[in-house]
Amino acid sequence: DDNLLKKITSHAKEYGFIFPSSEIYDGLAAAYDYGQNGVELKNNIKEYWWKAMVQMNENIVGIDASIFMHPSTWKASGHVDAFNDPMIDNKDSKKRYRADVLIEDVIKKYEAKIEKEVAKAQRRFGDSFDKEQFLATNPNVKRSQDKIDEIETRLGSSLAKGDLADVKALIEELGIADPVSGSKNWTDVRQFNLMFSTELGSVAEGANKIYLRPETAQGIFVNYLNVQKTGRMKLPFGIAQIGKAFRNEIIARQFIFRMREFEQMEMQFFVKPGEEMTWYESWKAKRIAWHKALGLGEDNYRFHDHINLAHYANAATDVEFNFPMGFKELEGVHSRTDFDLKAHEELSGKKLQFFDHEENKSYVPYVIETSIGLDRMFLAVMSSAYTEETLEDGSERTVMKIPAALAPYKVAVLPLVKKDGLPEKAREILSDLRFDFNCQYDEKDAIGKRYRRQDAIGTPFCVTVDYDTLEDNTVTIRDRDDLSQIRVSIDELKAKLKESCSL
Ligand code: GAP
Repeated sequence: DDNLLKKITSHAKEYGFIFPSSEIYDGLAAAYDYGQNGVELKNNIKEYWWKAMVQMNENIVGIDASIFMHPSTWKASGHVDAFNDPMIDNKDSKKRYRADVLIEDVIKKYEAKIEKEVAKAQRRFGDSFDKEQFLATNPNVKRSQDKIDEIETRLGSSLAKGDLADVKALIEELGIADPVSGSKNWTDVRQFNLMFSTELGSVAEGANKIYLRPETAQGIFVNYLNVQKTGRMKLPFGIAQIGKAFRNEIIARQFIFRMREFEQMEMQFFVKPGEEMTWYESWKAKRIAWHKALGLGEDNYRFHDHINLAHYANAATDVEFNFPMGFKELEGVHSRTDFDLKAHEELSGKKLQFFDHEENKSYVPYVIETSIGLDRMFLAVMSSAYTEETLEDGSERTVMKIPAALAPYKVAVLPLVKKDGLPEKAREILSDLRFDFNCQYDEKDAIGKRYRRQDAIGTPFCVTVDYDTLEDNTVTIRDRDDLSQIRVSIDELKAKLKESCSL
C-alpha cells in the first residue's frame, strides 16, 4: 500500500522521527536524518540486537571497525570486480533501471497469476481444496511455473557469466516496456559498480583511491585473528558489528528502504569446515525466532531462499518482512564459505588460519553471516506500529504501537493541571523515574491533547498526577494501546513500568 508508506513518511517527519537530509536545500536523494525521536528508536533497536547477539551469547563478541579500509580489502572481497548492478536506460524516457529488477518484475507477474489460479480453485473447492496437489497438477499453474523457471535460469546464468548482451536480449524477448513511458527503446546493459570512492591524502602526495565500505563484514574478516587471539576464542565463535555502509544504488527510493548511506548490524560466525550447513540452518532458525519475538506480527515474516547466489555464498536466504510495499528483504543469512578469509590470505600474504588443538591442525574457518539493515528494521517497526483508530467517543487518533522495549520514550509524566502543586509533584516523580526510563514531561495543553502527542510518538505509558496524588500518593497509568487506566501507588510505579517495558 503506497498510501500507507506515504502516511508513515509524513508522520515520521511531523513527529521528529525522520527528516529528509539537508531539507532546506530540497533534500538529497536517498539520504535521511534521524530526528529526536528517531534516534531514540534507532538506538533501542541497536541495543535490542546487540543484547541478543553479543551479550546473550558467550561465544560472540563485538567490534567497531573503521569505515575506510585498505583498498586491497575490496579487491580481495570481490567488490571491485563483482559488486555491480546491471543497469539499462530507456532511450525515450531517459529513465535508468536495474535490468535484473525489470526481469524479476515479469517473474512476479507470473507468480501473481499462479496465486490467482489458487484463489479461484480455493473458492470452487472450499474445504476439500488440496493446494499442494493443485500446484502440482493444474496445467495453467504449470505453464506459469515453467516460464518462471525458464526466466530465472536464463537470468541467473547470464549474470553469472557476465553476459550482459543476453540480459538485454531477454528484456527484448520478454517485451519489457519502460513502466513510465511504455517505450521499448533500450540501451545496452552496463555494469555499474556500487561502491563510492574517494581519495586518501592530498593529490600532491600521490592520491590513493579508497572506498567507503559497502558492507561492514570486511572489517570483521580482516580482524578475525586479532579477536580470536586476544579473546582466546575457540571455534565456533562470532564477531558482531553495527555501523554505516554506503552503496551508490541506481534506484534508491521507498523512503528508508533503500538508501545510499545506511547502517548494518552484521555478525560473522566462524565455524569448522564441514559444519557450515548445520550452523546455517541454526542461524536461520535463531534469527526468525528473534524477529517473531518482537511482536510485529508472526505472519509478517517469511524466508526467501536465493537461487542466484552472490559471488561469495554457497547458500543464502532472506528474511522478508511484509512492508507497506509488500514482502521485501529485511535480513540476509548467508553461508559465505571460506571465500573471504582465503581471498584475504592470498592478497595480504598473511596466514588467517585457526589452530584447532583437538585436531592438532590449522585451517581457514567457514563463515555463516547474519546481516540486517538497521534502517529497514526501523521501517518494519514503524510500518507495523502505525495505526489509525476511531475511539469510542467518535474521535480519531493516530497511534504508534511500537513495542514498549523499543519505544523512544517509555513514560510521559503529566500533571493534570498546571497549578496547585501538581507540576512540582510530577517533576518529583519524573526525577526518580528518569534513572530507569527515558521519560518525557509535558504540562502544556489539555490532558487529552497531551495523550495524543504521546500516542503519536509511541510512548507506551502516561503517568498522570492529579489532586488525589497529593492526598494518597497514587497516580494513574494510562496504557497507549488499550487506553485502560489503572491507579497505582507511587512506590510500586517503577516495578509496574519495568515489568511492562521489558521484552
Ligand atoms: N555482508 C552481507 C551484505 O551486506 P546484503 O544482502 O547486501 O548483504 C544486508 O545486505 C542487509 O543490509 C540487507 O538485508 C538490508 O537489510 C540492508 N541493506 C542493503 N542495502 C541497503 C540499502 N541500500 N539501504 C538500506 N538497507 C540496505
